[in-house]
This record gives sequence, structure tokens and C-alpha cells, in this order.
Amino acid sequence: MSRRHILAAAPSLALMGCSRAPTASPVIDLPSLKSTAPFPVGVCAMTGHLDDPAWVDLVSTHFSQLTPEWEMKMERLVRDDGTLDFTASDRLADFCADQRMRLFGHTLIWYAQEHPWFQALPEDRFATEHDRYVRTTVERYRGRAVGWDVVNEPVAEDGNGYRECLWSRRFGGVDGYIRRAFDVAREADGEAVLFLNDYNLENNPTKGASYLRLVERLLAAGTPITGLGTQSHLDITIPEGQITAFMRELAGFGLPIHVSELDASLESGRRVDVRSDATRESQQRDRVVELAEAFMALPPAQRWAFTVWGARDSDSWMRLREDGGGPNDRPLLFDDRGRPKPVAADVAQIFAGG
Ligand code: XIL
Repeated sequence: MSRRHILAAAPSLALMGCSRAPTASPVIDLPSLKSTAPFPVGVCAMTGHLDDPAWVDLVSTHFSQLTPEWEMKMERLVRDDGTLDFTASDRLADFCADQRMRLFGHTLIWYAQEHPWFQALPEDRFATEHDRYVRTTVERYRGRAVGWDVVNEPVAEDGNGYRECLWSRRFGGVDGYIRRAFDVAREADGEAVLFLNDYNLENNPTKGASYLRLVERLLAAGTPITGLGTQSHLDITIPEGQITAFMRELAGFGLPIHVSELDASLESGRRVDVRSDATRESQQRDRVVELAEAFMALPPAQRWAFTVWGARDSDSWMRLREDGGGPNDRPLLFDDRGRPKPVAADVAQIFAGG
């Protein structure tokens, strides 16, 4: 594998203006995304969504893969005594079976979830308990989960280097903890596609380059990474071409690629933002279209799945964020009432090969 060179793009400054009412959504007759796309179209979900008939109707129409937004994370699975509680994750897995949707496991090991029970473990028990947690979780969904985010977000926030965390400290560094998690997951399920997942890889070329170098190093050492996940929480103010450039670099490994958590916030999180709503919506469409086109341009064997991080704007985690996002944000393909936006029609046309 050749070394890679990512051009650093100058950061662009966007100024935040007051939010006005969203531009009226034209009525769009959207074909089923899952029937249009030549690959699985995914969505994240929490168990609370399953009791919302409108959500179920929208998701069963457009999506063929489901990622538990919370229920398969360590903080939900691991009880205070270290035992595992799968009641919520099982409910989502059962929903997938009922709806004939693929289930995608998210996420086994993550710097952001250093569970107190693991933190308190003595040195001589840590590896055994880590392996038990990974193995038990992956084995439970063997034959149902088509893939896993085995390790999430290993690259440093600014892209310079890699995160130190409980897992890296206990397993002899960044490569050590990632290798351990992937090896145990592979032993537990020989079929599932095993992903290394991270965010801001398109937004921040330095971070994208660090991710690519990490993948290259891990693969060269024999780590059983068999899929590459780019979360794609897009910064809609980045220059045109940055997304395409990263996707091309990512494709260079020849592995299946998962756009794993797409959303495109209209909010910059900056104190002053003079962009009109029309400008922001145009920027959002441009970047989402660029991502969809870059994904479609991949060899078919590498188009693993295209997942949005929420069905409707009202389902988005962005609504609860203060650093970009907020209660008026509209980052997804469908509005609060589940109506498709123009950007959804753009994506459908691209997926149709139009
Ligand atoms: C987020 C969920 O959407 C929120 O509901 C939760 O409060 C925090 O985690 N990258 C990831 C996801 O890999 O697991 C995160 O999901 C969003 C960022």
C-alpha cells in the first residue's frame, strides 16, 4: 500500500446568523431509498423509536440497515457489577429481524466509554474481562449483526496523533488496544465485517490523514480490520472536493466502506453566523451530494452501507448539542414530520445512478 498525501485545506470561517423559520419544503414524492440504492441504506435507532408508528413507517420504507444509537454501547450493556444486560439491544435486534433489516453493532471499544467497572479492575483481571465483554457481546449477535464498529474514534480530536485512553493504557498503547479488540471480535465471529470508525475525516484533512496512516499501520501488522467507517458528521462549510479527496484515499485500501453516521448540521456553533437559511441549506445539499456521489463512485464491492444518523430532524442528536446543532437544527434527509427534503431527492437520484 502506497503512502498517502492529504492536502490540508485552509479552514473556512462561517459566521452564524439568527435562525429563521425553515424555507417551506416543497412536496417531494421520494422513491424508497433502500429500493433505489444498490447497497444497504442505514439509520440509527433507539428503542423509544420502536413505539412511534410514524417512525417505524418511515424507516421500514426507506432503510435496510439499523445501527443502535445507544443500546449496544458499553455504558448500556455493562452493569455496575460487570455483568451484561442485553434487554435493550435484543429489542432492536428483534425489530431488525421482524423488518428484515440488517443489524450493525455499534460500538465495542470507545475512548469515550471507560466504564467504571473496567476502571476499577485490577491489572491481572483486565485483559480477561475485556475479552469476555467483547466475546460475549459479539457472540450473542453472531449471524444477526453483519458488522461491528469494533473500535470507535481512535484519532485525536485535532488529528495530530491518537487518543490515549483506559484501553490504550492497559494494552500497551494505541495499536495494542485496537489489535486486541479486533482479534477477540474476529475469534467471536468469523463472518462479521469488522470496522475501525472515526469522525471529521472529511472535515479535517489532518485527521483524515492520521486515520489513513493508522489503518495502514494496523493492517500491515495483521490486525483483522475488514471494514473502514467514516462517520461523516459533515461540516457544510468545508471546501468543495475535500470529501471526494478523502473517499478516494480511503478506497485505496480496497476494503468495504461504511458511511456510518451521516448528518450535516446547519449550525456552525460560532457566536456570529451571517449565513441565510437559504445559504446554509444550499451548502448542506452541496456537501451531502458530494458525499453521496463520492460513495457511489466507489467500486461496488466497497460500497458497504450508507447510514444516516437519524431518520427525521427531530430524531437527531444534534438537536441536543450546544457546540454546533441546537433545537432548530435540521441536519438530516427528512424533516420533523418525516417529509423528505430536496436533499433526499438529490441522494435518491444519485443512488439510482442518475
Ligand atoms: C451519540 C448519540 O447519537 C447520542 O444520542 C448519545 O447521547 C451520544 O452518542 N459518534 C458516535 C456515536 O460514534 O455513537 C455518537 O452517538 C455520535 C458521535
